[in-house]
Amino acid sequence: MAGLPHGGTLINRQAFGEDVSNIQKTIPIDRVSLSDLELIANGTYSPLTGFIDEENYHSVVEKMRLKNGLAWTLPITLPVSESVAGSVAAGDLVKLDYQGTVYGTLEVTGKFRPDKAWEAKHVYLTTDREHPGVRRLFDRGDVYLSGPVKLIRRSEHPAEFAADFLDPAETRALFDRKGWKTIVGFQTRNPIHRAHEYIQKTALETIDGLFINPLVGETKKDDIPADIRMRSYHVLIDNYYVKARTAFAVFPAAMRYAGPREAVFHAICRKNFGCTHFIVGRDHAGVKNYYGTYDAQKIFSNFTRDELDIRTLFFENSFYCKKCGGMASNKTCPHPESFHVALSGTKVREMLRSGIRPPETFSRPEVVDTLIQGLHVKTETIGH
Ligand code: ADX
Repeated sequence: MAGLPHGGTLINRQAFGEDVSNIQKTIPIDRVSLSDLELIANGTYSPLTGFIDEENYHSVVEKMRLKNGLAWTLPITLPVSESVAGSVAAGDLVKLDYQGTVYGTLEVTGKFRPDKAWEAKHVYLTTDREHPGVRRLFDRGDVYLSGPVKLIRRSEHPAEFAADFLDPAETRALFDRKGWKTIVGFQTRNPIHRAHEYIQKTALETIDGLFINPLVGETKKDDIPADIRMRSYHVLIDNYYVKARTAFAVFPAAMRYAGPREAVFHAICRKNFGCTHFIVGRDHAGVKNYYGTYDAQKIFSNFTRDELDIRTLFFENSFYCKKCGGMASNKTCPHPESFHVALSGTKVREMLRSGIRPPETFSRPEVVDTLIQGLHVKTETIGH
C-alpha cells in the first residue's frame, strides 16, 4: 500500500477550465517549465505548490532541503528573461503561456537573480557547459519568479499514449486496486534493455508490484525520443512481463542529468506516485563521466530512512555473461570481462541509428525492431 506523499499531503493545484479571461498579464514559459507546472499541479512534486522562492532556492541548492528541513534536491524554479521579469511584480497574478496557449497561472510572490555558476556547482557538481543540464541552466532566463501555481489545462498527448499519463492520485488508486503492499518504481530515459529488465525482475522477486515509469519530458538531443521509446515499452511489457505484477505510466519530467541529486529527486517523485521502493542502479541520471558509477547510491546516506520514506534498492552494474548463460553482475558472476556483453547507451544509440542490431543478449529483439522502425533506419544483424 502506498505510504504518505512527501510532506504528508498529495498536492493538487489543478483547476481545469477555470476562467482566467480577466487576468491581464501573460508571460511565456518554456517546455521544461510547462512540465514542472503540470507536475507541481498533479502532486508529483509534493509538497511543492509552486515555483520555489529565494529562501527555499538557497536552502535546496546548498543543503538539499527545503527551508522547513524536508529533503528536496533539485531547485524547481521559473526562469524568465530580464524583460519579462521587468514586467511583473510581487502580488501580480499572471497567466503562463506555452507557445500561444495558456496552461496555468502564477501568483507572483517574488523574483530573484540566481548565481547560476553557484547553482551549477552544487546541483550538477560542474560548471562545464558541455554538461546538458548545465547548458540548459545557463540558456534559460536570468531571473527566477516564485509563487504558487494553478494548472487550468493539460498539455495534449498523442491518442495512442494518452492512457499512459496518470496522475499520482491515479497510480495510487491503481496500486490499491492491484492489492500491492509493496511497489518498486523504475526510472529510465532509455529503451528498456536486458540489464534494466534484470534489475527490475530481481527486485520484483521480493516486491509485490513493479511500476515502470520512464521519463518522457525533455531529454538531450541524442537520447532516443520518447515517442519511439513508448512503443518499445509496450511491446516489451506485452511479451515479457506478468500483467498482474506490472504497472506502466510515464514520468513527464524533463531530464536534468544531475546524477546523484536527480536520483533522490526521482525517488521522491516515485514515492508521490505511491511507490514504497525505488531502484537505483549504476550511474543513475548520469551523463558522460561527470559522476562516479555509484555516486547516485551514495548520496542517499545524507538522508535518514524515515525522512525519505521510500526504500532504495541499489544494483551493481549488470550484464549478460556468456559463460553464465544469463544476466549477472560482479556480485554473482565469477568470469572475466571478456565473457560479458557490455555496451554503453551511447554505443547502442549509435548502432541503432546506423542500422546495426544490438545483440539479443543486450536487448530483446522486439524492442530492437520497434526502435529501428521508429528511427527509420535500415538494419543489419551482428553476431548474437
Ligand atoms: S537514467 O538516466 O534514467 O538513470 P538509464 O535509463 O540508463 O538512465 O537507467 C535507468 C535505471 O537503470 C537507473 O537506475 C540506472 O542506474 C539503472 N541501470 C542502467 N543500466 C544499468 C546496468 N547495466 N546495470 C545496473 N543498473 C543499470
